[in-house]
Amino acid sequence: MKVLGIETSCDETAAAVVEDGRILLSNIVASSLELHKKYGGVVPEIAARSHIESINPVINEALANAKTGWDDIDAIAVTHGAGLGGSLLVGVLAARTLAIIKNKPLYAVNHVQAHIYANFLTKTTLSNYKLPANQPKFPLLALIVSGGHTQLVLFQNHFKYNLLGQTHDDAIGEAFDKVAKMLGFPYPGGPSIALAAKNGDPKAFDFPKANLAGKYDFSFSGPKTAVLRTAQKLSGHSHDFPSYKLASRLKKAQKADIAASFQKVAIDTVVDKTLLAGEEFKPKSVVIAGGVAASQELRTQLSAKLPLLIEYTDPKLCTDNGAMIATLGYYQAKYKQGLADPFSLEIAPNLSM
Ligand code: KG4
Ligand code: ZN
Repeated sequence: MKVLGIETSCDETAAAVVEDGRILLSNIVASSLELHKKYGGVVPEIAARSHIESINPVINEALANAKTGWDDIDAIAVTHGAGLGGSLLVGVLAARTLAIIKNKPLYAVNHVQAHIYANFLTKTTLSNYKLPANQPKFPLLALIVSGGHTQLVLFQNHFKYNLLGQTHDDAIGEAFDKVAKMLGFPYPGGPSIALAAKNGDPKAFDFPKANLAGKYDFSFSGPKTAVLRTAQKLSGHSHDFPSYKLASRLKKAQKADIAASFQKVAIDTVVDKTLLAGEEFKPKSVVIAGGVAASQELRTQLSAKLPLLIEYTDPKLCTDNGAMIATLGYYQAKYKQGLADPFSLEIAPNLSM
């Protein structure tokens, strides 16, 4: 069964074809990232307009790269939430229209859950992807670390899961993006912080870890504010000095030390809670998902500390893509979940797990 996946929840216009929920046949991503860089974050109106320009060429390229015509496509899967309203609308309307005129079943996919399903891809016809050898096994512990979400989820089986905990404030990726902006590094912040951290000392500053009642809950606003206070102090200013003026007043070495120390506390936090959940629930597999799952530091630390073999997918499948949507779409078709009416499917910007 071949599924076309369509994803437009944020700044990536993406489409992909996946066979039987495990074979990646194509994966096309057009990002409007460059257009947002000068604003230090994604501008929703610019993202939505850019999706309108890119959606048809991206879908056509995904079909062409997969050497697939419409006759070979068995279903269409589309992200209907969570995400930016204007962005989601473009993908959902495109998918609804195609489902009607090509007469294909349409599946409404949850973007956050789909990030996890990127880990189910184990084969590909594409030469520039390195995929895990095996699909994850249940019970499956998933750490979701993206720009919008930080969650630990325990799956007993497909579509049977418990949310163990989540962030009370910023998502980890969002915290990386905000700290990067404060230090004057380009968006997205995760890779920028990782690059600067290479020249810094992770022990230079002892940013605090949040102490929360829920043992699998997260909070990143505390360490983020600690970065702000440290940066103000280092540059000789008081705590009311505006954050957007700090970058030019810090030395390169100070920025590198802040980046390394912040990356350490952020990654330690998610690794510690994953280990704790691993001990309590004894999963057969652990996966990481979402943009921050591309972090080499996170991968190195987890592999070193987890008493279980953990396989990582290609970093290109951690950030937003259509392949994860097509993969989850396949399992939705198999387990009869989320079949949508192409005449009425609505967007769900606040959808969560
Ligand atoms: O999953 P994603 O592409 O979009 C959302 O669904 O939110 O995640 C985007 C987040 C951004 O905050 C970005 O800073 C972070 O993922 N990110 C990374 C890396 N690549 C993207 N963080 C750490 N290391 C990376 N290589
Ligand atoms: Zn995402």
